[in-house]
Amino acid sequence: MNILTTGGAGFIGSHTCVELMKAGHHVIVVDNYVNSQPEALRRVEELGGMPVKSYTADVCDAEAMERIFSENEIDAVIHFAGLKAVGESVHQPLRYYRNNLDSTLTLCETMERHGVKRIVFSSSATVYGVPDEVPLREDMFCKGCTNPYGWTKYMIEKILGGIVEADPEWSVVLLRYFNPIGAHESGRIGENPNGIPNNLMPYITKVAAGQLDHLSVFGNDYATHDGTGVRDYIHVVDLAKGHVDACAYAAQHTGCEIINLGTGIGYSVLDIVNAFEKANGVKVPYVITDRRPGDVDACYADPAKAEALLGWKAERNLEDMCRDAWRWQTMNPNGYKG
Ligand code: UD1
Repeated sequence: MNILTTGGAGFIGSHTCVELMKAGHHVIVVDNYVNSQPEALRRVEELGGMPVKSYTADVCDAEAMERIFSENEIDAVIHFAGLKAVGESVHQPLRYYRNNLDSTLTLCETMERHGVKRIVFSSSATVYGVPDEVPLREDMFCKGCTNPYGWTKYMIEKILGGIVEADPEWSVVLLRYFNPIGAHESGRIGENPNGIPNNLMPYITKVAAGQLDHLSVFGNDYATHDGTGVRDYIHVVDLAKGHVDACAYAAQHTGCEIINLGTGIGYSVLDIVNAFEKANGVKVPYVITDRRPGDVDACYADPAKAEALLGWKAERNLEDMCRDAWRWQTMNPNGYKG
């Protein structure tokens, strides 16, 4: 298939492009590089062994999107593009709602005009809000998000669901990601956050590399086995493969499906620190600090639906995730800047 990936130069997008190419698909990328680098796509081409057709454009730009759909026979779209920093979204809600919703609306209007009716969307476990129970299943009621970023994911799920209701020929797959970490085994592509990282694994790798002094562990009084927050960490290459399977599914089915992509295993912050030190033989100094507002005790997936519908299951373990995250960091101490 010819698959358009919006935000294809980003962390999850770049890994997915490689897996799509390995599965024999042709990839077209549209990215405005607001939070990614063209160098990532160069390396995607190197790993995928074929060229990637790329457009530097904002998905909110209707004219640019029209041109992309006119110039290419697109069979399906994977929609990664979007602003994604939770804390920033609290301070800049309008920017988040405007960007994430506008881009999705423009994309879907363009798809509709061109009769392209298959879309896989990057949603997030954040839409479950504060869970009453874990593991989280797709049919559980979403009680509301804790930040504007999460609400944009929630609203986009509703928008895409509404499109299918109006036109049952559409095929929509809403992938709810848990916590993607790690990097491609080659060490050539990985997570490259702007400035000081907000998320746990990129922060740990920078501490281990000596670029940051120590990790702050946000609270040790949660209702978990060691008091620190528990999450479902998933290797980004496993996550990427889930998208390949979701595209295959969307080509065979119509309707709207919500699918968790997680391992089903919850690890605490200290589990991650210990696993990282053991896998890589490096120290990660940390101090316990206050809780971070909005964080929940535990969040992990029931991944059964992904296996039943897509035949997909995470294959990489925590050691793989820690080793690959560290390889990316050591091979690229300044990210794509070399
Ligand atoms: C957050 C978002 C999620 C988003 C994900 C991207 C929410 C509530 N969460 O998940 O939507 O998809 O990022 O990967 O919207 N921690 C520390 N010290 C740090 C950083 C994190 O102790 O410096 C802890 C956190 O308290 C948490 C765990 O590590 O228990 C994971 O945090 P993080 O990597 O930021 O991801 P989430 O908050 O789970």
